[in-house]
Amino acid sequence: MIRHFIDLFELDPETAGDLIAQAIDLKRRDAEGERPSLLAGRTLGMIFEKPSLRTRVSFEAAIAQLGGNAIFMNGKDVGMGVRESVDDFARVISQYVDVLAVRTYAHATVAELAEYATIPIVNALSDAAHPCQAMADLLTIQEVKGRLDGIRIVFVGDGNNVARSLAVASALLGASFTLAAPPGYEFPDDFRRQFSQAFPGVPLVVEHDPKEALIGADAVYTDVWASMGQEHESELRQAAFAPFQVNEPLLSLAKPDAMFLHCLPARRGEEVTSEVMDGPQSYVIPQAANRLHFQKALLIWLLSEPAANPSNHARLAAR
Ligand code: CP
Ligand code: NVA
Repeated sequence: MIRHFIDLFELDPETAGDLIAQAIDLKRRDAEGERPSLLAGRTLGMIFEKPSLRTRVSFEAAIAQLGGNAIFMNGKDVGMGVRESVDDFARVISQYVDVLAVRTYAHATVAELAEYATIPIVNALSDAAHPCQAMADLLTIQEVKGRLDGIRIVFVGDGNNVARSLAVASALLGASFTLAAPPGYEFPDDFRRQFSQAFPGVPLVVEHDPKEALIGADAVYTDVWASMGQEHESELRQAAFAPFQVNEPLLSLAKPDAMFLHCLPARRGEEVTSEVMDGPQSYVIPQAANRLHFQKALLIWLLSEPAANPSNHARLAAR
Protein backbone atom coordinates (compact mmCIF):
# COMPACT_ATOMS: atom_id res chain seq x y z
CA MET A 1 0.00 0.00 0.00
CA ILE A 2 1.39 3.37 -0.98
CA ARG A 3 1.32 5.85 1.88
CA HIS A 4 0.00 9.33 1.13
CA PHE A 5 -0.28 12.42 3.32
CA ILE A 6 -3.24 14.38 2.02
CA ASP A 7 -5.48 15.79 4.76
CA LEU A 8 -4.76 13.81 7.96
CA PHE A 9 -8.05 11.90 7.74
CA GLU A 10 -5.93 9.04 6.39
CA LEU A 11 -3.77 8.89 9.56
CA ASP A 12 -4.55 6.87 12.67
CA PRO A 13 -3.78 8.21 16.16
CA GLU A 14 -0.92 5.77 16.69
CA THR A 15 0.86 6.76 13.47
CA ALA A 16 0.31 10.45 14.23
CA GLY A 17 1.90 9.99 17.67
CA ASP A 18 4.78 7.96 16.21
CA LEU A 19 5.51 10.67 13.63
CA ILE A 20 5.71 13.32 16.37
CA ALA A 21 7.97 11.09 18.49
CA GLN A 22 10.21 10.39 15.49
CA ALA A 23 10.43 14.12 14.70
CA ILE A 24 11.43 14.88 18.30
CA ASP A 25 14.11 12.18 18.12
CA LEU A 26 15.49 13.44 14.79
CA LYS A 27 15.56 17.00 16.16
CA ARG A 28 17.51 15.87 19.23
CA ARG A 29 19.96 13.94 17.08
CA ASP A 30 20.37 16.94 14.79
CA ALA A 31 21.16 19.17 17.79
CA GLU A 32 23.84 16.65 18.76
CA GLY A 33 25.36 16.93 15.28
CA GLU A 34 23.99 13.63 13.99
CA ARG A 35 22.28 13.66 10.59
CA PRO A 36 21.65 10.06 9.55
CA SER A 37 21.59 9.48 5.77
CA LEU A 38 18.38 7.50 5.95
CA LEU A 39 17.15 8.63 2.53
CA ALA A 40 20.42 8.46 0.57
CA GLY A 41 19.74 8.29 -3.14
CA ARG A 42 16.04 9.19 -2.77
CA THR A 43 14.51 12.06 -4.74
CA LEU A 44 11.71 14.35 -3.59
CA GLY A 45 9.77 16.09 -6.37
CA MET A 46 8.03 19.35 -5.46
CA ILE A 47 5.36 21.08 -7.53
CA PHE A 48 4.19 24.45 -6.26
CA GLU A 49 1.32 26.38 -7.85
CA LYS A 50 1.47 28.98 -5.04
CA PRO A 51 4.38 30.85 -3.41
CA SER A 52 6.20 29.44 -0.37
CA LEU A 53 9.13 30.09 1.94
CA ARG A 54 8.76 27.67 4.83
CA THR A 55 7.32 24.64 3.08
CA ARG A 56 9.62 24.72 0.09
CA VAL A 57 12.84 25.39 1.96
CA SER A 58 12.13 23.06 4.88
CA PHE A 59 11.30 20.18 2.51
CA GLU A 60 14.43 20.79 0.41
CA ALA A 61 16.59 21.03 3.54
CA ALA A 62 14.93 17.95 5.08
CA ILE A 63 15.64 15.62 2.18
CA ALA A 64 19.17 17.02 1.72
CA GLN A 65 19.98 16.51 5.42
CA LEU A 66 18.75 12.91 5.11
CA GLY A 67 21.13 12.28 2.19
CA GLY A 68 18.60 12.63 -0.64
CA ASN A 69 17.86 15.39 -3.11
CA ALA A 70 14.94 17.53 -4.27
CA ILE A 71 13.70 18.77 -7.64
CA PHE A 72 11.57 21.92 -7.45
CA MET A 73 9.06 22.60 -10.22
CA ASN A 74 6.98 25.70 -10.61
CA GLY A 75 3.38 24.68 -11.26
CA LYS A 76 3.21 26.96 -14.31
CA ASP A 77 6.21 25.29 -15.93
CA VAL A 78 5.03 21.71 -15.58
CA GLY A 79 1.39 22.55 -16.41
CA MET A 80 -0.24 19.74 -14.45
CA GLY A 81 -3.83 19.53 -15.71
CA VAL A 82 -3.02 22.13 -18.38
CA ARG A 83 -0.30 20.70 -20.63
CA GLU A 84 -1.58 17.22 -19.89
CA SER A 85 -4.15 15.55 -17.68
CA VAL A 86 -3.43 15.12 -13.97
CA ASP A 87 -3.57 11.32 -14.30
CA ASP A 88 -1.01 11.23 -17.15
CA PHE A 89 1.13 13.64 -15.16
CA ALA A 90 0.90 11.43 -12.05
CA ARG A 91 1.87 8.26 -13.89
CA VAL A 92 4.86 9.93 -15.59
CA ILE A 93 6.32 11.77 -12.61
CA SER A 94 6.11 8.52 -10.62
CA GLN A 95 8.86 7.19 -12.92
CA TYR A 96 11.35 9.92 -11.93
CA VAL A 97 10.98 10.71 -8.23
CA ASP A 98 10.36 8.65 -5.10
CA VAL A 99 7.90 11.00 -3.37
CA LEU A 100 6.06 14.11 -4.53
CA ALA A 101 5.07 17.17 -2.49
CA VAL A 102 2.40 19.33 -4.12
CA ARG A 103 1.07 22.79 -3.32
CA THR A 104 -2.14 23.45 -5.24
CA TYR A 105 -5.24 25.56 -5.28
CA ALA A 106 -7.82 22.79 -5.77
CA HIS A 107 -7.65 20.07 -3.14
CA ALA A 108 -9.11 17.68 -5.74
CA THR A 109 -5.83 17.89 -7.69
CA VAL A 110 -3.89 16.42 -4.76
CA ALA A 111 -6.48 13.66 -4.35
CA GLU A 112 -6.37 12.89 -8.08
CA LEU A 113 -2.57 12.72 -8.04
CA ALA A 114 -2.75 10.24 -5.17
CA GLU A 115 -5.21 8.13 -7.14
CA TYR A 116 -2.94 7.73 -10.17
CA ALA A 117 0.60 8.12 -8.82
CA THR A 118 2.61 5.06 -7.89
CA ILE A 119 4.64 7.04 -5.34
CA PRO A 120 3.61 8.76 -2.06
CA ILE A 121 1.91 12.14 -2.50
CA VAL A 122 2.27 14.86 0.14
CA ASN A 123 -0.10 17.79 0.37
CA ALA A 124 2.20 20.80 0.79
CA LEU A 125 -0.95 23.00 1.17
CA SER A 126 -4.16 23.02 -0.79
CA ASP A 127 -7.20 25.25 -0.42
CA ALA A 128 -8.65 22.67 1.99
CA ALA A 129 -5.74 21.37 4.08
CA HIS A 130 -2.21 22.03 5.32
CA PRO A 131 -1.35 18.77 7.08
CA CYS A 132 2.44 19.28 7.34
CA GLN A 133 1.83 22.56 9.12
CA ALA A 134 -0.65 21.11 11.62
CA MET A 135 1.55 18.20 12.60
CA ALA A 136 4.58 20.48 13.08
CA ASP A 137 2.37 22.75 15.20
CA LEU A 138 1.32 19.92 17.49
CA LEU A 139 4.96 18.92 17.76
CA THR A 140 5.70 22.49 18.94
CA ILE A 141 2.90 22.39 21.52
CA GLN A 142 4.05 18.96 22.73
CA GLU A 143 7.59 20.29 23.24
CA VAL A 144 6.48 23.36 25.20
CA LYS A 145 3.60 21.90 27.21
CA GLY A 146 5.04 18.39 27.59
CA ARG A 147 1.75 16.80 26.46
CA LEU A 148 -1.10 17.16 23.99
CA ASP A 149 -3.81 15.26 25.78
CA GLY A 150 -6.35 17.75 27.12
CA ILE A 151 -4.46 20.79 25.82
CA ARG A 152 -6.91 23.49 24.74
CA ILE A 153 -6.08 24.98 21.32
CA VAL A 154 -8.11 27.96 20.09
CA PHE A 155 -7.79 29.03 16.46
CA VAL A 156 -8.94 32.63 16.03
CA GLY A 157 -9.86 33.48 12.44
CA ASP A 158 -10.96 31.85 9.22
CA GLY A 159 -12.03 28.18 9.11
CA ASN A 160 -9.40 27.75 6.40
CA ASN A 161 -6.92 25.06 5.33
CA VAL A 162 -4.68 25.62 8.37
CA ALA A 163 -7.60 25.62 10.84
CA ARG A 164 -9.09 22.46 9.34
CA SER A 165 -5.85 20.48 9.49
CA LEU A 166 -5.24 21.70 13.03
CA ALA A 167 -8.70 20.49 14.05
CA VAL A 168 -8.01 17.04 12.61
CA ALA A 169 -4.50 16.81 14.09
CA SER A 170 -5.91 17.83 17.49
CA ALA A 171 -8.58 15.12 17.32
CA LEU A 172 -5.96 12.52 16.38
CA LEU A 173 -3.63 13.48 19.22
CA GLY A 174 -6.13 14.14 22.02
CA ALA A 175 -5.98 17.95 22.15
CA SER A 176 -9.18 19.99 22.39
CA PHE A 177 -9.82 22.35 19.48
CA THR A 178 -12.05 25.41 19.17
CA LEU A 179 -12.50 27.66 16.15
CA ALA A 180 -13.42 31.27 16.90
CA ALA A 181 -14.68 32.69 13.60
CA PRO A 182 -17.12 35.33 12.44
CA PRO A 183 -20.44 34.04 11.05
CA GLY A 184 -19.97 32.91 7.46
CA TYR A 185 -16.32 31.92 7.94
CA GLU A 186 -16.75 28.69 9.92
CA PHE A 187 -15.86 25.23 8.62
CA PRO A 188 -17.63 24.18 5.41
CA ASP A 189 -20.28 21.46 5.64
CA ASP A 190 -18.27 18.81 3.76
CA PHE A 191 -15.43 19.20 6.26
CA ARG A 192 -17.83 18.96 9.21
CA ARG A 193 -19.29 15.77 7.76
CA GLN A 194 -15.87 14.21 7.18
CA PHE A 195 -14.78 15.17 10.69
CA SER A 196 -17.81 13.71 12.44
CA GLN A 197 -17.47 10.48 10.44
CA ALA A 198 -13.77 10.19 11.30
CA PHE A 199 -14.14 11.19 14.97
CA PRO A 200 -17.62 10.29 16.20
CA GLY A 201 -18.15 11.83 19.61
CA VAL A 202 -15.38 14.45 19.23
CA PRO A 203 -17.02 17.89 19.16
CA LEU A 204 -15.97 20.37 16.47
CA VAL A 205 -16.49 23.48 18.55
CA VAL A 206 -17.11 26.81 16.82
CA GLU A 207 -17.55 30.09 18.72
CA HIS A 208 -18.45 33.49 17.34
CA ASP A 209 -17.16 35.47 20.33
CA PRO A 210 -13.34 35.39 20.40
CA LYS A 211 -13.23 36.66 24.00
CA GLU A 212 -15.44 33.84 25.19
CA ALA A 213 -13.46 31.31 23.15
CA LEU A 214 -10.09 32.26 24.59
CA ILE A 215 -10.94 31.56 28.22
CA GLY A 216 -8.71 28.74 29.45
CA ALA A 217 -6.77 28.45 26.17
CA ASP A 218 -3.31 26.83 26.34
CA ALA A 219 -2.49 27.77 22.74
CA VAL A 220 -3.87 30.65 20.69
CA TYR A 221 -3.41 30.32 16.94
CA THR A 222 -4.19 32.64 14.07
CA ASP A 223 -3.59 32.90 10.33
CA VAL A 224 -4.19 35.46 7.59
CA TRP A 225 -7.79 36.51 6.99
CA ALA A 226 -7.49 36.11 3.21
CA SER A 227 -5.57 33.03 2.09
CA MET A 228 -3.65 32.66 -1.16
CA GLY A 229 -6.22 32.86 -3.95
CA GLN A 230 -8.65 34.98 -1.86
CA GLU A 231 -6.79 38.28 -2.20
CA HIS A 232 -9.77 39.83 -4.01
CA GLU A 233 -11.84 39.32 -0.82
CA SER A 234 -9.32 41.12 1.42
CA GLU A 235 -11.35 44.27 2.02
CA LEU A 236 -14.55 42.40 2.81
CA ARG A 237 -12.71 40.05 5.14
CA GLN A 238 -10.92 42.85 6.99
CA ALA A 239 -14.27 44.21 8.12
CA ALA A 240 -15.61 40.80 9.18
CA PHE A 241 -12.45 39.73 11.02
CA ALA A 242 -11.50 43.03 12.74
CA PRO A 243 -12.84 41.91 16.17
CA PHE A 244 -10.79 38.71 15.80
CA GLN A 245 -7.36 40.37 15.77
CA VAL A 246 -5.03 38.67 18.24
CA ASN A 247 -3.72 41.61 20.26
CA GLU A 248 -2.50 41.88 23.85
CA PRO A 249 -5.94 42.52 25.41
CA LEU A 250 -7.40 39.48 23.61
CA LEU A 251 -4.43 37.22 24.38
CA SER A 252 -4.63 38.19 28.07
CA LEU A 253 -7.96 36.31 28.28
CA ALA A 254 -6.16 33.00 27.63
CA LYS A 255 -4.15 31.20 30.32
CA PRO A 256 -1.19 33.35 31.49
CA ASP A 257 1.24 30.82 30.00
CA ALA A 258 -0.70 30.36 26.75
CA MET A 259 1.44 29.97 23.63
CA PHE A 260 0.82 32.18 20.62
CA LEU A 261 1.18 30.39 17.27
CA HIS A 262 0.92 31.46 13.62
CA CYS A 263 1.76 29.37 10.58
CA LEU A 264 3.27 32.47 8.88
CA PRO A 265 3.49 34.47 6.71
CA ALA A 266 1.73 36.98 8.99
CA ARG A 267 0.15 40.29 8.12
CA ARG A 268 1.21 42.30 11.15
CA GLY A 269 -1.45 44.81 12.16
CA GLU A 270 -4.23 42.69 10.69
CA GLU A 271 -4.80 39.25 12.24
CA VAL A 272 -2.03 39.82 14.84
CA THR A 273 -0.21 42.80 16.31
CA SER A 274 3.58 43.08 16.38
CA GLU A 275 3.40 43.19 20.21
CA VAL A 276 1.97 39.67 20.22
CA MET A 277 4.15 38.34 17.35
CA ASP A 278 7.30 39.56 19.10
CA GLY A 279 6.04 39.11 22.66
CA PRO A 280 7.07 36.60 25.33
CA GLN A 281 4.21 34.21 24.54
CA SER A 282 5.08 33.92 20.85
CA TYR A 283 6.51 30.63 19.54
CA VAL A 284 6.24 31.43 15.85
CA ILE A 285 9.93 30.93 15.07
CA PRO A 286 10.37 27.55 16.84
CA GLN A 287 7.07 26.61 15.20
CA ALA A 288 8.50 27.41 11.74
CA ALA A 289 11.70 25.52 12.65
CA ASN A 290 9.70 22.41 13.48
CA ARG A 291 8.44 22.16 9.89
CA LEU A 292 11.92 20.81 9.05
CA HIS A 293 11.95 18.20 11.79
CA PHE A 294 8.41 17.00 11.23
CA GLN A 295 8.89 16.70 7.49
CA LYS A 296 12.05 14.61 7.99
CA ALA A 297 9.98 12.14 10.03
CA LEU A 298 7.25 12.25 7.41
CA LEU A 299 9.57 11.55 4.46
CA ILE A 300 11.17 8.62 6.31
CA TRP A 301 7.75 7.17 7.11
CA LEU A 302 6.41 7.60 3.59
CA LEU A 303 9.49 6.02 2.05
CA SER A 304 9.84 3.18 4.54
CA GLU A 305 6.81 1.39 3.08
CA PRO A 306 8.07 -0.85 0.26
CA ALA A 307 6.62 1.57 -2.21
CA ALA A 308 5.68 1.62 -5.78
CA ASN A 309 8.66 3.27 -7.36
CA PRO A 310 11.16 0.47 -6.73
CA SER A 311 8.58 -2.00 -7.99
CA ASN A 312 8.21 0.10 -11.14
CA HIS A 313 11.85 -0.51 -11.79
CA ALA A 314 11.54 -4.16 -10.85
CA ARG A 315 8.59 -4.56 -13.20
CA LEU A 316 10.53 -3.06 -16.09
CA ALA A 317 13.62 -5.10 -15.29
CA ALA A 318 11.51 -8.27 -15.29
CA ARG A 319 10.19 -7.60 -18.82
N1 CP B 1 3.47 28.20 6.73
C1 CP B 1 3.74 27.96 5.44
O1 CP B 1 3.33 26.97 4.83
O2 CP B 1 4.55 28.92 4.88
P1 CP B 1 4.91 29.03 3.34
O3 CP B 1 3.67 29.43 2.61
O4 CP B 1 5.99 30.08 3.28
O5 CP B 1 5.40 27.70 2.86
N1 NVA C 1 -4.13 30.00 4.99
C1 NVA C 1 -2.89 30.45 4.36
C2 NVA C 1 -1.74 29.66 4.88
C3 NVA C 1 -0.40 30.01 4.30
C4 NVA C 1 0.69 29.14 4.81
C5 NVA C 1 -3.02 30.34 2.85
O1 NVA C 1 -3.54 29.33 2.37
O2 NVA C 1 -2.61 31.26 2.15
